[in-house]
Amino acid sequence: MSNEARGTWSGNLGLVLAATGSAIGLGNLWKFPYITWENNGGAFVLVYLGCIVLVGLPIMMAELLIGRRSQLSAVGALREAAGPAFRFVGLWGVLAGFILLSYYTVIAGWSLFYFWKALGWTVSGFDTAGSGLFGEQVANAPLQLILSLVFSAATIGVVYFGVSRGIERVAKVFLPVLFGILLLLLISALGMSGSGEALTHIFQPRFNELDGAGVLEALGHSFFTLSLGMGAMITYGSYIGRKQSIVKAGGAIVALDTIIALVATVIMFSVIFSVVGLRDEVGASAVGMLFISLPELFYTEVPFGTVLAPLFYVLVALAALTSTISLLEVVTAYLIDERKLSRHKAAVGSGVAIFVFTIFAALSFSPAGGFLASMNIWGEGKDGWFSTMDHFVSNWMLPTGGFAVAVAAGWIMTRKATFEQLVDGTEPRWFSFEAWRVCIRYIAPTAVLAIIIAVILGTDFS
Ligand code: TRP
Repeated sequence: MSNEARGTWSGNLGLVLAATGSAIGLGNLWKFPYITWENNGGAFVLVYLGCIVLVGLPIMMAELLIGRRSQLSAVGALREAAGPAFRFVGLWGVLAGFILLSYYTVIAGWSLFYFWKALGWTVSGFDTAGSGLFGEQVANAPLQLILSLVFSAATIGVVYFGVSRGIERVAKVFLPVLFGILLLLLISALGMSGSGEALTHIFQPRFNELDGAGVLEALGHSFFTLSLGMGAMITYGSYIGRKQSIVKAGGAIVALDTIIALVATVIMFSVIFSVVGLRDEVGASAVGMLFISLPELFYTEVPFGTVLAPLFYVLVALAALTSTISLLEVVTAYLIDERKLSRHKAAVGSGVAIFVFTIFAALSFSPAGGFLASMNIWGEGKDGWFSTMDHFVSNWMLPTGGFAVAVAAGWIMTRKATFEQLVDGTEPRWFSFEAWRVCIRYIAPTAVLAIIIAVILGTDFS
């Protein structure tokens, strides 16, 4: 395999920012706030944090080390780490990346639309379109197709340029700006009248309001938000140099991702609880929360909101972009390593193939979508193909993929093989290899299995 087609990170910061860019995305800014809303906050958030620390963090380290050890993408790395059968786990991941990307770009497209709208509002004044506007744009099939096409093209463009010249460069510029803007928003949100109620709702556990499906969702989301369970971090790990610390990088990625998710939720809930009538509006379409509740805040409450609003939506788009490139990179790296394609061919070929499925997702919300819009095999969401795919990938494919990674790193690889990767004198003080072993061997697999079995046996998704 040519190393030129593969590439490497320029240094530790490059890896951390690129991987954090993968982790921070619509999962943090859009999905976490709305599932927290749907699951009534408190207890759900606590279970989610437990999943992050006991399951997500250990698996993050496992994926990075499996990738770095073989310097191969998901399929090859799992095969080298745990034997030929684990090739299929890698392929399962490539498939998950394929499906996930096919609908992720649709939501990312919404942020482009709102960026455009916000520019208009900034110039000629805000009109309170509320959820009406959101509903209109998702039902507009041609618009949805164009938006997701633009987004897919941008993703292909970055992956085309490769690891350090494409992926890393984009993350280095966009992430610091994203942090800055979110901080400004947080400060203004905390000053709003509903912020106290928002904090209570998010951080005070009320366990009677959480059900089995909610626990599965918390677990599934911890995989989704950290980009775990489908080989994305294995692929990014394969570009890590021998001298970089996997533990430090993993810790930083997980911490940043979690903080950003909580900050986004505090911001959004503060607005919802402050603005009269917004609560009902959100209740009707939690999916659109990011696009329904925030515009209002910008133009009515935030100092300099008229300037920040377009900037914010462009940043949501950028956060999504650093995630979509990691998804496409999983498929691309697989084609480069295992099918010996050039990077250019691999990126464009897989990108175009995935876009075909994006069309299904893009039509899910519109009457033109026909059966796609009504398809509803989980009896849950009302957005057809789109919800069905999201549900399947996040709640089933990612946890099962993560389970397999835990088995590979905890049971099949030798203690020595993992020890060498994690403990090399560069690891931080808080790290304990023994604790990691316990999590990866027992806690993570048991948690995933227990939750999946409980759901299969007992909980329905209505
Ligand atoms: N983590 C991203 C988010 O929170 C989504 C994502 C990007 C992802 N790459 C992934 C999820 C790989 C699972 C696997 O939006």
